[in-house]
Amino acid sequence: MSKLWGGRFTKETNKLVEEFTASIFFDQKLAKEDIAGSLAHVQMLGECGIIPKEDAEKIIDGLLLIKEKVDRNEVNFSVEDEDIHMNIEKLLIEQIGPVGGKLHTGRSRNDQVATDMHLYLRTKTTELIKLIEDVQKAILSQAKEHVETLIPGYTHLQRAQPVSFAHHLMAYFWMLERDKERLLDSLKRINWLPLGSGALAGTTFPINRERVAEILGFETIYPNSMDAVSDRDFILEFLSIGSIIMTHISRLSEELVIWSSQEFQFIELDDSFCTGSSIMPQKKNPDVPELLRGKTGRVYGNLVGLLTVLKGLPLAYNKDLQEDKEGMFDTAETLEGSLKLLAPMIETMTVNKEVMRKAINNDFSNATDIADYLVRKGLPFREAHEVIGKIVLYAIQSGKFLLDLSLDEYHQFSGLFEEDIYDVLAPEHVVAVRNSFGGTSPEQIREQIKLAEAKLTR
Ligand code: ARG
Repeated sequence: MSKLWGGRFTKETNKLVEEFTASIFFDQKLAKEDIAGSLAHVQMLGECGIIPKEDAEKIIDGLLLIKEKVDRNEVNFSVEDEDIHMNIEKLLIEQIGPVGGKLHTGRSRNDQVATDMHLYLRTKTTELIKLIEDVQKAILSQAKEHVETLIPGYTHLQRAQPVSFAHHLMAYFWMLERDKERLLDSLKRINWLPLGSGALAGTTFPINRERVAEILGFETIYPNSMDAVSDRDFILEFLSIGSIIMTHISRLSEELVIWSSQEFQFIELDDSFCTGSSIMPQKKNPDVPELLRGKTGRVYGNLVGLLTVLKGLPLAYNKDLQEDKEGMFDTAETLEGSLKLLAPMIETMTVNKEVMRKAINNDFSNATDIADYLVRKGLPFREAHEVIGKIVLYAIQSGKFLLDLSLDEYHQFSGLFEEDIYDVLAPEHVVAVRNSFGGTSPEQIREQIKLAEAKLTR
């Protein structure tokens, strides 16, 4: 059979053009969505009497047969039929005869393809929300174990103040919580139905768009047919949210790489999540977090790619829009793969409490606390800061830490110091007194964990 649109043409399509313009190589991923959209459309056509009920039923049976074949991977899509929409229509006509040609009544590939992508992203978004929760659960389970495990907290990657390891990990829980909220919110717009907009201007047939929305589970219908067929905001939004998610994954991955280095040794990733070197037998490389960090690049690229495609496009449909798909699939699949690995990798990592503890004993991250100590004794903070700066310099020069200095040594800098300074400087104390809401004290972290648990839907 020749092209579905062959009537107006006098020549065969150039083979290179055929390949260049075809999308079947990638949009076959939309086969299920395409069939679901067609099923709803034809059911509505039958109900509205736009095509005879028996014809609608024949088409429905035919589509269901094709769906089974697709599920069993039994169909061969062909490049001559350009895209998934025409491939399926062709298969249908082969399956049930010319009556299959009635399916496309009152519809265009333009509203059809947009509908397929809305359906695709609805499924993916819902799946991703679950996968994010799996990572959140993994974070929570480690956090619960490590409320009292102390780790240096950094600013500028310089030791700043000690924090609970749970607190550090939980920061990522909340990033992911916002990502989940963003995905949930985007569903509102994913749930706008384009179908029934025709090529761009609507249709001459008395269709019932509400009915199609109801069958397909859409919340609302695009009120403007031109917007409906050319809108790709919902994909941009998905790619943006995906980029933010990857930013979070990448930041965490970077920390895992640093923490598992010989220099830090704060954590050890499970052997099953690492790989070796073909030449250096001693190596255990954190390939998974490195690759998660690396894959962030392609996800950003997909966003910038589509933004660029859309910029300057006149209304309504333009073939440029076919470029919306590969990036969308790639982002969805990259996110899926990344989140699936991240959860068990976090769950199985070993936390080297003693190494973290040793790090804290050997730094000046309690310096703020002696400054606050002098402030409580009445010294203005600026002056206290100056005094402590001098003490730190003195300690560094004499190869000691703040807890190693004698009271006599402290008195050289201020008469306000008393024996209780040593309690104030103990890392546990330093952490416990940061008891403001959202702070790193064990008490606050336990509260935080409760709030976090309430956010999980499963
Ligand atoms: N394969 C096309 C796409 O993905 C489907 C829509 C084609 N519409 C058209 N008027 N050529 O964008």
